[in-house]
Amino acid sequence: MGASVRWSWFTALLCLLCMGCEVQCDCTEEGVHIQGGHYTLSKKLEKGSQLVYRCPEGYYPYPHLRHLCQPGGKWEPTPRRHQKCRLVECPDPNVLQNGNVSPPLQKYFVTNETTYECHAGYTLRGSSSRTCLPNGKWSGSTPICSRDFGDTCADPGIPAGCSRTGNTFGIGDKVKYTCNGNLFLVGSSERVCQENGQWTGQEPACYYKHTYDTATEVSEAFGSAIKHTLNILQPTDDMQEGRIIRMSTNGTLNIYIAVDISQSIDQSYFQRARDAIVTLIKKISSFTVSPNYEIIFFSSDVYEIVNILEFRGNKIPLADIVERLESFDTSDKNTGTDINSAFQRFFERMAIMKYGLGIEAFKEQRHVLICFTDGGYNMGDTPEPTVEKIKNLVYMNHTDTSREEYLDIYIFAIGVEIFDEDLHPIATGTGGRHYFRLRHDTNLHEILDEILDEREVVGLCGLHKGYDTTADKISKRKRYPWVAFVIIQGESPRKCLGSLVSPNFVLTAAQCFTFGDLPGDVSVEIEDRPGSRVKRVKTFMLHPEFNIKAKVSQGVSQFFDYDVALIQLQDDVHISAVARPICIPCTQETSDALQLVRVSTCAQQGVVTHTCFNITVFINTNKEQFLCKTL
Ligand SMILES: *[C@@H]1O[C@H](CO)[C@@H](O)[C@H](O)[C@H]1NC(C)=O
Ligand SMILES: *[C@@H]1O[C@H](CO)[C@@H](O)[C@H](O)[C@H]1NC(C)=O
Ligand SMILES: *[C@@H]1O[C@H](CO)[C@@H](O)[C@H](O)[C@H]1NC(C)=O
Repeated sequence: MGASVRWSWFTALLCLLCMGCEVQCDCTEEGVHIQGGHYTLSKKLEKGSQLVYRCPEGYYPYPHLRHLCQPGGKWEPTPRRHQKCRLVECPDPNVLQNGNVSPPLQKYFVTNETTYECHAGYTLRGSSSRTCLPNGKWSGSTPICSRDFGDTCADPGIPAGCSRTGNTFGIGDKVKYTCNGNLFLVGSSERVCQENGQWTGQEPACYYKHTYDTATEVSEAFGSAIKHTLNILQPTDDMQEGRIIRMSTNGTLNIYIAVDISQSIDQSYFQRARDAIVTLIKKISSFTVSPNYEIIFFSSDVYEIVNILEFRGNKIPLADIVERLESFDTSDKNTGTDINSAFQRFFERMAIMKYGLGIEAFKEQRHVLICFTDGGYNMGDTPEPTVEKIKNLVYMNHTDTSREEYLDIYIFAIGVEIFDEDLHPIATGTGGRHYFRLRHDTNLHEILDEILDEREVVGLCGLHKGYDTTADKISKRKRYPWVAFVIIQGESPRKCLGSLVSPNFVLTAAQCFTFGDLPGDVSVEIEDRPGSRVKRVKTFMLHPEFNIKAKVSQGVSQFFDYDVALIQLQDDVHISAVARPICIPCTQETSDALQLVRVSTCAQQGVVTHTCFNITVFINTNKEQFLCKTL
């Protein structure tokens, strides 16, 4: 430490001497100390370096979150002497009507517990006890004390830190919310009681600048909202004269993704965002929906990765999109932020689309905009007017809510310092939350990987989780969910690897078996559910032409052609993220997984093989016929 203090004194001196000359002065570490925490520097003490304060869980940096090193060697904003890590506070729960909150405190901090009781004649809905969590939110749900007045809608309650106007809950009645003190509102500030007894919008919440959404909250909320959209567009299987007709609604979903790279002074942030997009579009592709994509990165300029207009008349394979994303280089592209330019780009695309398709066809187009940013704009304008223009275009000037479901704008606010005032108003759409406030060190990739419920994509082969954060058993299985261990008892016990090819068939090597093995000697291990590993085997079949000694006479001591065997299980494996079949060509599942647009025959997939019952297998031509016969 001593050395660095002396060093900074030295640079300061050098700086003084150089006043007016061309030499760049570095910032110093003097006065940027934080009590109870530490800080990181993005580019050491050079100009443009960002100093970010870090605090342990349950604390946040105060009064500043970060400093930027200015050309003159000064930190901006100016560091304060009393910079420290403060305890996380939760919004005031003493807003409960017709009930009591205990203990009554001035302020509630992380780990503080509260209990809620209703006055006589009122019943409690929601949580009767809540704990202040490290993300600045209360656990559980808003407690509400209400009396049944026979209103159409239930009392919507008052979330912690909020004030509400509106105390009648009949059809058409409106309630309005505001946040107290220095809290700001996330969610619907206004809700209307509908005929069906439901309130419009979502329950609002009051956030501090230190409040954020946890990974689980985001993946659940975003997952359910986007699923809502994808399910509307999911082709339905319609049975007609015994044949399944796939009803397709392709081409009507347009997804626009914008990623702010102005903060990619922190390269890892950019990497994570890029991985997150790849994950997201792969996830979406597991639904049988083939959206058109516009993907851009932006700082002071817009960098186009995929242009949605390229999708006119042809689909761009997922692999191409991924490759373009991966070959994009952010270096030297990170000056300034012009978030409006990103929305302006989307607006222009939509306008061209409308012109090209005509009004009638454009009416059927749905638009999902997803923006990852901290919202700070130091160039250009606020994006709000552009978002208004987008709304007008998509809503076709309808001022009622009839076309709201055609436009979703999801904002992932992520960064050291988030400009909520600019970002929150542009989140738009029905079907759930559209504004997410994330800690800057959140693993976006993992959140998005969790969003689409495994049950939704059960039929999909080959789907696995590409990341490996922990080396535990579960994450290993998620990485290779089709792996099966084949155990053969008997005179010389053996263990082989196999792959699940359907819920009840495992493909392995014929050389694993020896003459005289019986189905009872064989077992397969796949941990499809906790504690359920060993699967009983009904039968197994080796390729009839497999003969390891077939070519001994020709000098080939071991001959491995036809080296395949199939094992049939007594019971189906439970398909989930940890146990899922590998892809076999020529199936619809494989087409979906490979993003081949409406291709399911082998000829279309470029594979020659046969169809057998409902499984088609290709290993190589001579092996495949055997598999066909046995399956
Ligand atoms: C509330 O939490 C703070 C900080 O953890 C603690 O010091 C205080 O004693 C708690 N108060 C109550 C009533 O639990
Ligand atoms: C789906 O898209 C393809 C080409 O992109 C088109 O040929 C086909 O007619 C479309 N199907 C429907 C039902 O719109
Ligand atoms: C919507 O309004 C704008 C101007 O306010 C107008 O130019 C446009 O033609 C209108 N669109 C429709 C579909 O009515």
